[in-house]
Amino acid sequence: MNRPEAMQATHWQLEIRNDIAWLTFDVAGQSANVLSRAALEQFEQHLTNLAERPLKGLIIRSAKPSGFIAGADVREFQEISDPAVAAELARTGQRIFRQLESLPFPSVAAIHGFCLGGGMELALACTYRVLREDPATRLGLPEVRLGIHPGFAGTIRMPLIVGDFIALDLILSGRTVSPKEARAIGLADEIVPERHLLRAAENIVRTNPGARRAPWFKRIPNWKPLRRLVVKYLTKRVAGKAHPDHYPAPYRILELWQQRANEEQEAFSLGELLVSRTSRNLVHVFLIGEDLKRHGRAQAHGIRHVHVIGAGVMGGDIAMWAANKGFRVTLQDQKPEILARALKRAGEFYKKSLKDPRMVQEAMDRLMPDLNGDGLQRADLVIEAIVEKVDAKQALFRDVERRARRDALFASNTSSIPLETIAQGLSDPSRLVGLHFFNPVAKMQLVEIVRGSYSSDEALGRARAFTTALDRLPLDVKSSPGFLVNRILMPYLLEAVKLAEEGVALETIDRAATDFGMPMGPIELGDVVGLDICYSVAQVLAGPLKLDVPALLANLVNEGRLGKKSGRGFYEWDAKGHPQKPKAERNVYAPIAERLILRLLNEAVACLREGVVNQPDAVDAGMVYGTGFAPFLGGPMRYIASLGETGISHSLYRLSQEYGKRFEPDPGWSQTELFRQPSMSDE
Ligand code: NAI
Repeated sequence: MNRPEAMQATHWQLEIRNDIAWLTFDVAGQSANVLSRAALEQFEQHLTNLAERPLKGLIIRSAKPSGFIAGADVREFQEISDPAVAAELARTGQRIFRQLESLPFPSVAAIHGFCLGGGMELALACTYRVLREDPATRLGLPEVRLGIHPGFAGTIRMPLIVGDFIALDLILSGRTVSPKEARAIGLADEIVPERHLLRAAENIVRTNPGARRAPWFKRIPNWKPLRRLVVKYLTKRVAGKAHPDHYPAPYRILELWQQRANEEQEAFSLGELLVSRTSRNLVHVFLIGEDLKRHGRAQAHGIRHVHVIGAGVMGGDIAMWAANKGFRVTLQDQKPEILARALKRAGEFYKKSLKDPRMVQEAMDRLMPDLNGDGLQRADLVIEAIVEKVDAKQALFRDVERRARRDALFASNTSSIPLETIAQGLSDPSRLVGLHFFNPVAKMQLVEIVRGSYSSDEALGRARAFTTALDRLPLDVKSSPGFLVNRILMPYLLEAVKLAEEGVALETIDRAATDFGMPMGPIELGDVVGLDICYSVAQVLAGPLKLDVPALLANLVNEGRLGKKSGRGFYEWDAKGHPQKPKAERNVYAPIAERLILRLLNEAVACLREGVVNQPDAVDAGMVYGTGFAPFLGGPMRYIASLGETGISHSLYRLSQEYGKRFEPDPGWSQTELFRQPSMSDE
């Protein structure tokens, strides 16, 4: 993609006051600052000019409310297919940041909001880092999440400043740190309230107390005799999380560190990783997530008060999460003890995640038990999460409509009842949408925004915006059985049960799926979700999708073996919540994986053909963010594109000859236009 206008636009403003240069980053035409090639080049020109002048110092800051710098321009990555070009980009950044580091006067990054990736590397090359103290300020090197590692000398500068162990932890995990933690580890020189940020930056330039370096003891892991042991230990830890064939970047990071790599080695390695299949797919996954957020922000939600009805597994967690994100929430259920249980769970979650007692108290204050449903009359949004029964939901919404405000938005968390059915009896069904959260709400990023035939665009837009405000990704789906995610997952789960019925060892089935790249095997997943829930969803979908539900599933449920929650399901579960399974061998299960995955892909294509979602990207977003489908493959549709749809439909046909109708290729496989629809970002 050529963006000549971006090349010409001015991204930096320079001002010199009292012998201090203020360089303000403000990328033209975007809400967040990213380091595009053009922005880097302009930065270099400023540095070259400034180096010649008799200055006391340089202060770099951002004009964007969203933060300092969000990182490199990830969209530019997609245009690079040659490792040499990628390495050259890294060398350019390295050269510019070297120039920044060797200015004849001190430099300081005055940071608020996000300071990530390339932005963090720029800040590392400054003499000082001064941070605004608030929860929105986050610093980190998240490159590993895109299948790469820092390439502007971040792998070299970070250990020098915070020490080797902490640097490796940050680079390998990609996690971000708060201002408090940044100060504790030596990454921040000062943290100050917003009103003092610029003054603090100016003071530090004038006093120039000397750049921070990690004390000697924090560099002990880097001693030659220890280095190998450290790498061995960390490789083992990484291996528990990421398969080297699927995610090579963390292993590369350890190699670079072990070799004490220089900038050239860092650039070369980055070049190789950036054009790898894994990185390209992870970038795809990241960008479709960003597109969902952008879509979500297109409208205002106008919601401050949320009333949640049903305080069970889902309702309790939705209420907890909404209060966590700043909404005022009333939570209603039929019995006080159910509400007490939900509040207790929320309190424990806040304590663990927010830590600061004042913030915990504030979140608890926003979450109010409401046995009589008094909050209903004031709420801007009413979310229903009661039992999955048609009559109950219909009766509830009739009552809700009588008592709620006229402009309140209504949402159901149903996983299987058509919205049109729930809306029967409503005088204005246009205000009802589906907000289908996934379990556990605090972990699963996706929310399906279900469009019933009567749902208005206005209601859908508000629901999307609310979801985005919850820091969740809103995905539009049509109101049809199972929506997108559960529907695609079900044939895959049932095939696993079928394999178990045939006598294949449970751990072997799971291993086949995890070797393929799924985060958890289907048998274990069934146990975790609850076999009763799986069974009831399977029954709902069996008719419309013509699914055969294996008798084994019903038998287990009838015996009360419901999975993790009852201590027994397919597996026996120990007191700590771990399934008891023998170790399975690796890499010998291709035919099992093929059966599991092809059923999933076949259903994905059926959803696209039926217009459950409108684009291949939406299928990918749903399955990666809703189920954890192998992110390094980029999602089911991206995987299909990499293999070619003809080959896969032939394999399905072959399996249908061997195992029967359930493998018959969906008619969508021959509709090539389905696979060629524009990506979300082209909209
Ligand atoms: P649950 O059984 O844990 O909770 C339902 C709660 O609703 C119970 O506490 C019950 O006392 C309450 N309730 C029932 N009728 C009520 C009424 N008229 N007024 C007030 N409260 C009432 O059920 P769960 O699992 O939380 O499911 C709730 C909804 O979420 C269902 O529609 C389900 O299909 C859907 N869902 C469930 C998921 C899961 O993994 N459990 C995932 C996504 C959606």
